[in-house]
Amino acid sequence: MTMLFSHEGNRLIVQTPGKVNLHLEILGKRPDGYHELETLIVAVGLYDRLEFQQQESGTTVTSSDPELSVGDDNLVTRAIALVRQESGIETGVSVSLEKRIPMAAGMAGGSSDAAATLAALNLLWGLNWSRERMAELGGRLGSDVPFFFYAPAAICRGRGEIVTSCPCPAVLHFVVVRPREGLSTKSVFSRITVPDEPVSVSPMENALQAGDTEKVGQLLHNRLEEASLALSEAVTDLQRRANSWNCLGHRMSGSGSAYFALCRSAEDADELARQLREQNLGSVFVVTNPSQG
Ligand code: C5P
Repeated sequence: MTMLFSHEGNRLIVQTPGKVNLHLEILGKRPDGYHELETLIVAVGLYDRLEFQQQESGTTVTSSDPELSVGDDNLVTRAIALVRQESGIETGVSVSLEKRIPMAAGMAGGSSDAAATLAALNLLWGLNWSRERMAELGGRLGSDVPFFFYAPAAICRGRGEIVTSCPCPAVLHFVVVRPREGLSTKSVFSRITVPDEPVSVSPMENALQAGDTEKVGQLLHNRLEEASLALSEAVTDLQRRANSWNCLGHRMSGSGSAYFALCRSAEDADELARQLREQNLGSVFVVTNPSQG
């Protein structure tokens, strides 16, 4: 796992990362409306911070971002309810959530928060659940949640819940741009056509394991990109501009709207980020993948 745990007095702090997809292919449409997919995901060092504290009773969730609902639909609230249901523990808990991972960006911020909540309650309430159990529960909350129990890099299949960790020895230098408008995962998936000839994840997996970042840059693939381009002018604009960026490759992450470049070095990433900030395209982040182990 790549979550960072610490204690401040009687509070448990969890910092939990975002992600980008280096490869995302659609293999079919399922009878339940979801899509069968194959995706290679890496965590990126842009962290939401969650502060957990026991309280007398009930659930209190607060968020630094007023745009995020903290009602029953919030993934942290849903994760708490699920752990209560599975463990029978009724102890009260309060969570203060500091959002740094952009929302509606294809960076799985909400899913990461849900995974962090499962891991935190596992510790706070002494449940001793295995990562397999937490990943299984996470899969019920959202397709991207199980990944975070196998990060920093993994291949996810099925709806996203069949996860295999993937060695990634290289440091990957990314610049991520989140345009002002986000994208809804549901509406992007609703515009997907299943390809006749799916692109295999194996070459990307091999390049990543070999630490061949040039190759990783060339192989970046995201089947959702076309649907997102049709929905978002901002993503279309970013893709057009990206052709002149100094980088090894560029792609949209997940269902967007975040768009990333893989750079040769930290210096190249910093320089590209500087240029992109001047162009006022949205929020710009320079991130690497957290190291393995
Ligand atoms: O699982 P999650 O709630 O994150 O998925 C959000 C939406 O994305 C789903 O309602 C579905 O429309 C789409 N989706 C899909 N196939 C997947 C994952 C997500 O169609 N494998």
